[in-house]
Amino acid sequence: NEGALWGGRFAGGPADALAALSRSTDFDWRLAPYDIAGSRAHARVLRTAGLLTDEELEGMLAALDALEADVRSGAYVPAPSDEDVHGSLEKGLIERAGPALGGKLRAGRSRNDQIATLGRMYLRDHAAIIARDVLAVVQALLDQAKAHPEAPMPGRTHLQHAQPVLLSHHLLAHAWAMLRDVERLVDWDARAAVSPYGSGALAGSSLGLDPAAVAAELGFDSAVHNSIDGTAARDVYAEFAWVCAMIGVDMSRISEEITTWATKEFSFVTLDDAFSTGSSIMPQKKNPDVAELARGKAGRLIGDLTGLLATLKGLPLAYNRDLQEDKEPVFDAIDQLEVLLPAVAGMVATLTFHTQRMAELAPQGFALATDVAEWLVRQGVPFRDAHEIAGDAVRVCEQHGIELWDLTDEQLAAVSAHLDPAVREVLTVEGSLASRSAQGGTAPSAVAAQVAELERRLAAV
Ligand code: ARG
Repeated sequence: NEGALWGGRFAGGPADALAALSRSTDFDWRLAPYDIAGSRAHARVLRTAGLLTDEELEGMLAALDALEADVRSGAYVPAPSDEDVHGSLEKGLIERAGPALGGKLRAGRSRNDQIATLGRMYLRDHAAIIARDVLAVVQALLDQAKAHPEAPMPGRTHLQHAQPVLLSHHLLAHAWAMLRDVERLVDWDARAAVSPYGSGALAGSSLGLDPAAVAAELGFDSAVHNSIDGTAARDVYAEFAWVCAMIGVDMSRISEEITTWATKEFSFVTLDDAFSTGSSIMPQKKNPDVAELARGKAGRLIGDLTGLLATLKGLPLAYNRDLQEDKEPVFDAIDQLEVLLPAVAGMVATLTFHTQRMAELAPQGFALATDVAEWLVRQGVPFRDAHEIAGDAVRVCEQHGIELWDLTDEQLAAVSAHLDPAVREVLTVEGSLASRSAQGGTAPSAVAAQVAELERRLAAV
C-alpha cells in the first residue's frame, strides 16, 4: 500500500477492521495545508543539514507546490487505504517528485512531532478567527449599550428584583466577560507559539536538523526545549478547549437572558425576524432558536473539553495512539463556535429593547429599599438600623399593597422618626441610578466612563 508509512517488518497488510479503526483522514485532512507547510520547512532544514542538494530541494519544493495546488482544488484527496493525512500526503509527494526524491523527506521527522506541530498551527489560526468573532459580539453589545445609554431596567439577583440598573450597564457586563475570553485566547497563543517540530518520535533527531529554523518558518516564536514534552503534551489543546467552553458558557448566559426577555411575561425585547424561527404547527410562534442553540452548544463545548481531558488522564509519556483522539474535540469546538458566534452577534445587534416597559418595572418589587437604607446612613443612622427601618417600610407597603413612594408622610414617620419626607429624593429610579457614580457603578456618568474604558481595551486587543 503506497499510502502506508510502515510495513517493512510486517508480513502482510493490516486487517480491514484495524485499518477502519486506525484511519483518521476523515478528520485530519483539514490539516493538509499545514502538513505541506511543515514539509517545506523540513525540506529546507534537510538542505541546510546537507541531506538534500540544492537541486533536490528545488524539486521537492516544486512537488510540494503542485501537491498543495491539487489538495486545494480537490484534485488530490486521501484514498480509503490512507491511514492519515501524513501518509496520504507522502504518497502524493512521491507521485509528483518520484520515489527517489519523495522518499527523502521523511528523514528526521515523525508523525508524532508533525501532528503536534500541525495541530498547534491549526488551532492558532482558528483562535484568531474565534477571537474576531467574539469581538463582533462584544461590539454588538457595545453598540446596543451606546444606543440605550440611560435606559433603566430591573437589576436582579436570585432572579428577583434587586436594584434598578441601566440596560447599558447590564449589557456591558456580558461584554466584559467576553472581552476576557478574547484576552485569554491572546494569552494562550503565547504558549501555543512553541513548535514541537524536530522532536522526532520522542527523542529528537540525530540528523543535525534545526528546530528553531523550522519554528520560525512556520510562524512560531520558538521551538520546544524537550522533545518528549513536544510530542506528548496536549495541555495547549486542553487550554484551548477550556477557553472555547468558557466562550460557549458566556454565550449561553446571555442567551438564557434573551430567551427570558423575549417571553410574553417579560416583554423586554423583540427578536428580529431574521434571527428568529417559526413553528411547523403553531402559526403564531416566533422562537429564539439562536439563543437556544447557544445554550445547547455550550453543553457540547463542555463535552469537548471533558472528553479531551479524559483522553489525557493517565496517559504515559511519550506519544500514544490515544492522542489521535485529541483532534476531534478541538475541531468540533472550533466548528461549533465559528457557526454560533456570527449568529449570536447578529441576534444581539438586531434586538429591539422595550425600554418603556423595562423602565416601568425597574423600581417595582421594592427595588429602591436599598436606596432608603443608604439615604438613612447618609443621615447618620447606623446601617444595621437603617436596614431594619427600610425593611419595616417594605413590610408596611406589602400590607397596603403599595410601593415605597406611595407611603404618606405620616406612614413614613410611623415607621421611623428618621424617615422624613426628604427621603423621597432617592425614591426615583433616576435618583437611585445617579447615586451609584463610583467606578464600576450603574450611574450614567460611571457607565459613560466604562464605555470609554471598554473601547480603549477593545482597541488594544
Ligand atoms: N495520526 C496520528 C495522530 O493523529 C499520528 C500518527 C502517529 N502514529 C504513530 N503510530 N506513531 O496522532
